[in-house]
Amino acid sequence: HNADKGEFKHYMLKEIYEQPDAVARTIEMAVDNGDTVKLRDDFLQRHEAQLSGIRNVQIIACGTSYHAGLVAKYWFESLIRVPCSVEVASEFRYRNPVVVDHSLVICISQSGETADTLSALRDIQKHTPAGLVSLALCNVPTSSLVRETDIFLPTLAGPEIGVASTKAFTTQLVALMLLILKVGSTQQRMTQEHLTTLIDELQQLPGQLYASLHLDAPIQAMSEHFEDKRSCLFLGRGLQFPIALEGALKLKEISYIHAEGYAAGELKHGPLALVDRDMPIVVLAPKDSMFDKLKANMQEVHARHGELFVFASEASQMVAEDRLHVVHVPDVCETLAPIVYSVPVQLLSYHVAVMRGTDVDQPRNLAKSVTVE
Ligand code: G6P
Repeated sequence: HNADKGEFKHYMLKEIYEQPDAVARTIEMAVDNGDTVKLRDDFLQRHEAQLSGIRNVQIIACGTSYHAGLVAKYWFESLIRVPCSVEVASEFRYRNPVVVDHSLVICISQSGETADTLSALRDIQKHTPAGLVSLALCNVPTSSLVRETDIFLPTLAGPEIGVASTKAFTTQLVALMLLILKVGSTQQRMTQEHLTTLIDELQQLPGQLYASLHLDAPIQAMSEHFEDKRSCLFLGRGLQFPIALEGALKLKEISYIHAEGYAAGELKHGPLALVDRDMPIVVLAPKDSMFDKLKANMQEVHARHGELFVFASEASQMVAEDRLHVVHVPDVCETLAPIVYSVPVQLLSYHVAVMRGTDVDQPRNLAKSVTVE
């Protein structure tokens, strides 16, 4: 590879550390850095007419890109009240789905070459629902996906080499937020004040991501508890639920430990039966509107002797105790918290994998880009 690992032992770690810059670049593509806080006039300007006509959103993706889509669903609906569905491409394409008129179909793909995602898009295009607009959210400008869609929204992550996606994921989240701001303002679905607040908060992200990299050492220490575990649970609620899924996927992919991501509110409906002294439970616990409910979920696990590993904000005032480990994540607004909380779950899976001696950048049986079904 021409990309150099530099001082880093693995591409994955290098790419984790590139996130503040990659995210800053992606934000700059849409945000005016001048005196007034606003979206750049030229951001998706050519597509304003198309975007003003869409009434709902269908997201299609695979793997980590699918998890970015799940976060976007929460954002589309709660921030600008645009209905949004998300589905993995391999299911979507074979179930004869309904794509309603005036849909924006967003295909999220780091590579732009994932076979299932491309086929799902082509099937929709064949049926041409009225007012269909297709958008590629992609890291590779020359890819098939970009060629075959109406709108190209780039992630400016730079080349990603580690099979486990990191900076592509966080830049996808940022770009999705930028798109939501664009649709929200074009269709007047959000107040100027709300728009300004979100742009302000976006601009703080690179600094917050940079600060979250300081968690590397404490998370490395935490990872020792996972070395000989066979199974692990990741819990989150609301915007952190997709990050729990992503944390579990990362751990599976590179450490080969079985892991499941669960909506914490579903604990009682099954996974609580798995909890015992040997079960590590990772919890994404920013101090947000769901925090009190999540705390009750943690108590349920603790009462059953599960060992908790909690990523919490300073503001949560959570302190470590017996079988409860806490790492404090920099404070960030609730809306953008999933982007910052991605970093600790990436670092955790990375350090667990290194300790177990797996091939971090090229995990067994997996490929960076899945171009066959
Ligand atoms: C493979 C990769 C994952 C990636 C997924 C989707 O499984 O190992 O890291 O998330 O494909 O890839 P895409 O390029 O479409 O985002």
